[in-house]
Amino acid sequence: MNSLVSSKNLSRHTIELLLQNAQAYADKGPVGGHQGTVVNLFFEHSTRTDLSFQMAAQRLGMRVLNFAVAHSSASKGETLLDTLETLEALGVDVAVIRHKMDWPKEVEGCNLNLSLINAGSGIFEHPTQALLDAFTMRQHFGSLRGLKVTIVGDIRHSRVARSNLHILTELGAQLQFSGPDIFRPDDLPEVPWVDLDKAVEETNVLMMLRVQHERHAQNTDISTYHEQYGLTEQRLARLRADALVMHPGPVNRGVEICTAAMEDPRSQILKQVSNGVEVRMAVLDWCLQGGKHGKLVSA
Ligand code: CP
Repeated sequence: MNSLVSSKNLSRHTIELLLQNAQAYADKGPVGGHQGTVVNLFFEHSTRTDLSFQMAAQRLGMRVLNFAVAHSSASKGETLLDTLETLEALGVDVAVIRHKMDWPKEVEGCNLNLSLINAGSGIFEHPTQALLDAFTMRQHFGSLRGLKVTIVGDIRHSRVARSNLHILTELGAQLQFSGPDIFRPDDLPEVPWVDLDKAVEETNVLMMLRVQHERHAQNTDISTYHEQYGLTEQRLARLRADALVMHPGPVNRGVEICTAAMEDPRSQILKQVSNGVEVRMAVLDWCLQGGKHGKLVSA
C-alpha cells in the first residue's frame, strides 16, 4: 500500500505522474473499474476536500463508506490507531484523514495494511490541495517552470502554503509570500517575504489565503485587513492581464478577497474545486497501486 502524508513524500517524477494521470481522468470522463473501499475520517469540518474525495472514489468505481466522527466510537474515546485497525479489519483499503492537529503521531510508522491520505492536518500539510493547485496552474500555463507565484495571507497557520512550497518548487515555480508580519512563519525563512503592492504587478499567480481564526491563540483584529492585505478592486485592476487569481477556499468575501476578484475571468477558484476531483482520482489510484511509479492511466 502507498500513503500520502506529506508533499515531501513525493518526488518530482511522482508529482508529474499524478498530474498527468489527473489530466487523463479529466480528458476521459467517467472511468470506473477500480476495486476497493475508501473511508473519509474528517475530524475537522470540510466541504471541498470531503466531497471531492467522495466524488473521486465514486468515479473510479470504488465503494465509499460514511464515517461521521460524532456518531462513531471515536466519540467514546477510541483512539485513531484503534479506529484505523478496525477499518483495516473491515477490509477498508484507503483512509482519508482530515485533522485539526498536525498529522497524528500515533499513526506515524504504524504497520497498517491500508493507505492513509492526509486531507489537511493542522498547520502541517494539505498535499492534495497543493497538487490540485499545481494542476490548475499547469493546465493554464503548460508548465510551472519560472512561474512567479505569490501566496498572500495567514501563511503562519497555513498547511496549504507548506504543501505548495514543496510541490510548486519541485516543478520549477518561484514562490514568494506576503501578508501581515504577524502571519510571517518562523519555519520557512528560505521563502522571500514581499510587499503585496509591488508583487501584484509582476506575479503570474496570486493565491489568497483565509485568515484562520480557529488556529490563533487569541482574537485577531481584521478590521483593516482587506484594505492592507486583501485583493481589493484596486489591486485587481493592477494585476497582469494573464495572471491567475487562486484561493483554496473556503473564502471570506471582503476580507482576503473582494467579490469582483472572485468573479473575474482570471479567477480559478471554482476550477480548483473541479480539478480537485481528478487530482484525487489520480492519488487514490496511485495509493491502490502501492505507488508503483511509471504507470500512466492513459497508457
Ligand atoms: N481547501 C479546502 O481544504 O477546503 P475544505 O476545508 O472545504 O475541504
